[in-house]
Amino acid sequence: MYHIRSLADYQNAYKKSVEDPEGFWGEIASQFVWKRKWDRVLEWNFKKPEIKWFSGARLNITENCLDRHLETLGDKPAIIWEPNNPAEKGKTLTYRELHKQVCLFAAVLKNNGVKKGDRICIYMGMVPELAIATLACARIGAIHSVVFGGFSAQSIADRLQDAKAEFVITCDGAFRGAKDIPLKSVIDDALVSCPFVKTVIVFTRTRTPVSMIKGRDVWWEEEMAKVSGSDEPLCKAEEMDAEDMLFILYTSGSTGKPKGVVHTCAGYMVWTNYTFKNVFQFENGQVHFCTADIGWITGHSYIVYGPLSAGATSVMFEGIPTYPDAGRFWDIIDKYKVDILYTAPTAIRSLMGFGTAPLEGKDLSSLKVLGTVGEPINEEAWHWYSHHIGKDKCPIVDTWWQTETAGVLISNMAGVTPSKPGYATLPMPGVQPILVDENGKEVHGNNVSGNLCIKAPWPGIIRTTYGDHERCRVNYFATYENLYFTGDGAMRDENGNYRITGRVDDVLNVSGHRIGTAEVENAINMHTGVVESAVVGYPHDIKGQGIYAYVIFSGTNTDPELMAKDITATVSRIIGAIAKPDRIQFVAGLPKTRSGKIMRRILRKIAEGDLENVGDTSTLLDPSVVDEIKKGSLKKS
Ligand code: PRX
Repeated sequence: MYHIRSLADYQNAYKKSVEDPEGFWGEIASQFVWKRKWDRVLEWNFKKPEIKWFSGARLNITENCLDRHLETLGDKPAIIWEPNNPAEKGKTLTYRELHKQVCLFAAVLKNNGVKKGDRICIYMGMVPELAIATLACARIGAIHSVVFGGFSAQSIADRLQDAKAEFVITCDGAFRGAKDIPLKSVIDDALVSCPFVKTVIVFTRTRTPVSMIKGRDVWWEEEMAKVSGSDEPLCKAEEMDAEDMLFILYTSGSTGKPKGVVHTCAGYMVWTNYTFKNVFQFENGQVHFCTADIGWITGHSYIVYGPLSAGATSVMFEGIPTYPDAGRFWDIIDKYKVDILYTAPTAIRSLMGFGTAPLEGKDLSSLKVLGTVGEPINEEAWHWYSHHIGKDKCPIVDTWWQTETAGVLISNMAGVTPSKPGYATLPMPGVQPILVDENGKEVHGNNVSGNLCIKAPWPGIIRTTYGDHERCRVNYFATYENLYFTGDGAMRDENGNYRITGRVDDVLNVSGHRIGTAEVENAINMHTGVVESAVVGYPHDIKGQGIYAYVIFSGTNTDPELMAKDITATVSRIIGAIAKPDRIQFVAGLPKTRSGKIMRRILRKIAEGDLENVGDTSTLLDPSVVDEIKKGSLKKS
């Protein structure tokens, strides 16, 4: 049942998972190391929501990712780390070495007063110590909240306050392409408004000067030296309840501040392992290269927990695809004989732009499976990926999923179930997608579209939003009765394949990253000269979606270029560079209904350059603003 090797296997597994979910997942879960077996496989109620998988079971996920492999895979590489600059030597950690480092750092955390259930914010670059820190938290039952290294001090402070995290793990700085990002100094700025943070552990990466605050800041290396010794006891894995929190990961929604998505120990482990093995058709000994950052869910699930629990070799890359040149990914594949490459459509589109010259002389013949994630892949990019990278012999898996789902929900399985360019295709066993119309009525049949919902829980489903369960209910379980609502629209073809058409809420997907329009608007509105703003997405050749901001400005400064620069700097400071608007149009008014609601549909059309089809404007308070906005449009058709 565990390994799906043929279409018939898939069909059988799918059938069983729907007819007898408890039997199915009970069998799958028996593949793991448990300290105590479960009493019940599944209990659920989407109304509350309350979802429990494997209740009563006790385990530690790091024993499944590390300890259980020591005997058979101890000397095999667990993590291969490739630094930003190819001139620098990389690092390989075998399972034995990784286990040791995790145990040591777990002991460091304990020495610094961390206890089970404490929240720890991790803000680091892509160094192996990021994976070590994450696993060390899991080892002792502390709840990690990894924050992507591109977020601003304000964003970190928001997340620290929300999670009431008293511990931070960071680096002096991070190398990213030609840039050197001063992570510790960003943390220092964040902590001005977070006096409850007791300890900051700083790993040395860039040798950027940092100010270490007495009594609060300690060096990673010095703390590790204190616990290292030939006879130190290896840190025992904390026995966790199946439903104890494993981590919090913040993600954007359509309203307000990012929410802390919570995943729990057992379900997350089972789901990431099962999907990793089956979607990519992982074989023992293979090298898996996921190009994401561990600051996002893709890195959590398919650099750290999924591959390590499967005993894979996981490549961790510190840099960016185009530094020092656009052949970086291909060099890495050649150098480490990568079997599975998992990346984002935005990276493929950007590399496509460099043509095939960067591929010359690179041996990509080790590749067996290609994957994409994060956004819909356009057919041109799909074919380029298949032909130039996969040499027309590697299946491509288009994996659709979300931070809230922990792992892949809809995807073909490499070489086992059929692929179709532009389609995520079929649901994983245990996943029951349905399409509904605005009223929540199921849309039956094929060649139909609707809002994508899921009928029943899979082991990796979100359990709550940290500190605010009601927010979880309202966001995901209240729009349609008894359904998990994904926020995505989809269509279903004549063979039951799903094509994801994009978000149906006010969430943008920029380079595969989720950004809430309300969040960007709030950041823009922080600028003293801004009266009001409205943000929408528009199609962008590389990023998938770009950010288009309409801004009413009343400052004394009237140079639009300078005003735009100031606004961009404000957004970078409040959220981070990833949320910077690509286009800013200054307007005198926004199209509002009589009740004051902004009609984004009109703004979207104008941002797309489709000025003729803005639709009915008669319900607007002042329809003439639309003509004015059209005249000033930065993207005229
Ligand atoms: O809109 C979907 C899009 O990314 C959203 C989830 O974003 P996030 O939680 O940041 O996780 C990204 C990595 C899993 C989804 O709601 N999305 C993700 N994968 C695909 C996709 N859209 C189309 N095709 C995909 N394969």
